[in-house]
Amino acid sequence: MSVSRFPEGFLWGGATAANQVEGAYNKDGKGLSIFDMVTFVPKEKRGNMAMEVRSEEELNARLNGEMGDNFPKRRGVDFYHRYKEDIALFAEMGFKTYRLSISWPRIFPNGDELEPNEAGLEFYDRVFDELAKYNIEPLVTISHYEMPLHLVQKYNGWEDRRLIEFFVRYAETLFSRYKDKVKYWLTFNEINISSISPYIGSGMLVDHLENREQAIYQALHHQFVASARAVKACHATIPDAKIGCMLARMEVYPETCHPDDVLAALEEDQKNLFYTDVQVRGKYPSYMKKYFKDNHIELKMEPGDEEIIANYPVDFLSFSYYMSMVASGSSDKKKEKGNFFSGVKNPYLEASDWGWQIDPKGMRITMKKMYDRYQVPLFVVENGLGAYDEVEPDGSINDDYRIDYLRAHIDEMGKAIEEGVEVMGYTSWGCIDLISASTSEMSKRYGFIYVDQDDYGNGTLERKKKKSFDWYKKVIATNGADLS
Ligand code: BG6
Repeated sequence: MSVSRFPEGFLWGGATAANQVEGAYNKDGKGLSIFDMVTFVPKEKRGNMAMEVRSEEELNARLNGEMGDNFPKRRGVDFYHRYKEDIALFAEMGFKTYRLSISWPRIFPNGDELEPNEAGLEFYDRVFDELAKYNIEPLVTISHYEMPLHLVQKYNGWEDRRLIEFFVRYAETLFSRYKDKVKYWLTFNEINISSISPYIGSGMLVDHLENREQAIYQALHHQFVASARAVKACHATIPDAKIGCMLARMEVYPETCHPDDVLAALEEDQKNLFYTDVQVRGKYPSYMKKYFKDNHIELKMEPGDEEIIANYPVDFLSFSYYMSMVASGSSDKKKEKGNFFSGVKNPYLEASDWGWQIDPKGMRITMKKMYDRYQVPLFVVENGLGAYDEVEPDGSINDDYRIDYLRAHIDEMGKAIEEGVEVMGYTSWGCIDLISASTSEMSKRYGFIYVDQDDYGNGTLERKKKKSFDWYKKVIATNGADLS
């Protein structure tokens, strides 16, 4: 067997989010979250994604059950009651870390109250204690599309500056409660999502907005300040903790070597790296200031905002990577689908059943690029293949396509490490099957562990190991030396 390219202590594991696995959406004092309001829409009736709520009227129609009653994120895969069984399976695979999010409305049901919900805090105590039994380090996302719905209804989400105080109170509550249990934290999942979905990223109903772009960037500014304040609070409360940002990374290639295409790709890339420029380098980049000026966007900042962003950058940069994109200098090109983002078709790549263009080498390219730019440790916190899985008559699930996808990406990550990129760990997305973020499907599966449930909530919820389960177990056991 060859020698491992991965450093000792490399954090292998898997990732999920509360809204996609927990279920129990109204148990033990939990308030409603934004994703509790998203219904399942069959493929033929929706586009690439079905998760935006646009107006108060629409929200009320959903609350009154006028838009159907299939809310898959309310049921998740019942991790709330089955966490012991699930964590035992993660431990059997040898996980060193498990990335999970805390559901904000489990802790602060409305989001703006002063005292947390003790029952919610106790649930995560139990989860962290269970992980500790197996020496699995939790990696906690503080906010993963789970804003309390009340903050949408009363404040239109992050458009309102008061959200900073609510978020910081929530984050400080977590740091002081779990300071002896959690050493790795992330502030906002895919902080760049608001540009695509203001509802999911910022809890904003867009029909309320006079100027959509202005509101999105203002909401983001509030999130940047809140994130920097959380970094400060985390270091003050847990001196040995590390806290990172999280970006949905879109590596963008030029369609050809025509300078117009190259420039278009560069500009798309800047749009994507703007977020990490702020959170890692600690200031708004000049290209964005020009963009704001050209587009009449004026951010309202308070004294001290720029200082807090400058003084409390993140310790590491985490990102999701599923695919790469292509940009063209000509505007009439047909766009391909991606997870929330779209670009021109790349003729050299195959795509998943959901049209996501599979590009393992792109992961190495992007890791090298980001490390060159930021010189901080990277953490791959999402990567994986959403696919339809078949249970064979003998009960087996032969997901060789998933193994191929993961193998190729892990191999490229290994090459990036050999080339000097500092990487803390790798948590493959949806280590156990869960509800899709963009489409609310159950049938779009990522896991090493199969969950018996369909798009309508039928099924026993029984867990079964897929072929990839043993494969990943071997990868971890050999610290990535054996990917065969
Ligand atoms: C990321 C999100 O964008 O992609 C996850 O952080 C999400 O929450 C994942 O599940 C995969 O997307 P989807 O739409 O296939 O669930």
